[in-house]
Amino acid sequence: MTHRLFEEKNHASIYQKYRMTPPVGVKEIVLQYLDKKKGPPHELAVDLGCGTGQNTRLLAPHFQEIVGIDVSENQLEEARAVPGFTNITYRAGTAEELPFPNGSVDLLTAASAAHWFDQERFLKEAERVLKPGGCMALLGYTNQFHFSYGTCGDRLDTIYNEVKDVLLPYTSGQIAVTNSKLQDLYEAIPFPDKERIDGIPGKMQMSVKRVMGLFESFSMYQTFLRKDPSAAEALIKSTTARFLKSMDVSSVDTMLEVSTLYYCVLACKPK
Ligand SMILES: C[S@@+](CC[C@H](N)C(=O)[O-])C[C@H]1O[C@@H](n2cnc3c(N)ncnc32)[C@H](O)[C@@H]1O
Repeated sequence: MTHRLFEEKNHASIYQKYRMTPPVGVKEIVLQYLDKKKGPPHELAVDLGCGTGQNTRLLAPHFQEIVGIDVSENQLEEARAVPGFTNITYRAGTAEELPFPNGSVDLLTAASAAHWFDQERFLKEAERVLKPGGCMALLGYTNQFHFSYGTCGDRLDTIYNEVKDVLLPYTSGQIAVTNSKLQDLYEAIPFPDKERIDGIPGKMQMSVKRVMGLFESFSMYQTFLRKDPSAAEALIKSTTARFLKSMDVSSVDTMLEVSTLYYCVLACKPK
């Protein structure tokens, strides 16, 4: 079954505006792994579940060609609208049926996306399209975010945890898969050469407004919004007010620090 929780136009534009780009540290780990296991040339990278292209664009300086694949046309439309990346193309499709010949891909990535894939069919396709020595890098973060602003970080974390509780009934089972850091998928990867790196720090300065946009980008928030629009909008309004009050500021443009920890599942197809 293909999960279609990211299809709506408004959700795609929230994604483009507010979603975090993976930290440079993750990219370096992935490129070093590829260099160690396969080495040059770096011809083709494919970013699966690319969404609006945050991770796809990070790969642009390092490959001759990058293809971003996503099931959502609206997400792809946002990705294509970002100018200046002439070696990237975006194509509609699924991670379970890839439009590439056998043994043609150097690197397959999926950023915050592999938990939505059909594990068995995706792994079969990955094995088919990767070159010998080609690598996959499945990265993501759990839902443990921490907020810092003066001395009120703990208070902001508590508010965020309460938001998570409200969203719990609208949370897809697939979110537990990413919170497990893709444990089952990792175990099912058919290559003997695999590892999982954990605890890679991701820190960003964000305005209060952007933090709220990040919450709105969550699939569970969008499910809540579809089921009960006024309650969902009220949640963002009250959470904004609670953040501002805790921080003792009045502007939603006030910046705070948001941190999380990324993980990365790496695997290399035998040569
Ligand atoms: C949480 S978003 C991540 C987007 C982006 N990679 C990022 O880091 O922000 C997950 C994306 O995976 C896509 N997706 C879900 N299932 C998919 C599948 N089976 N094949 C390809 N894309 C899929 C969704 O449409 C969505 O855009």
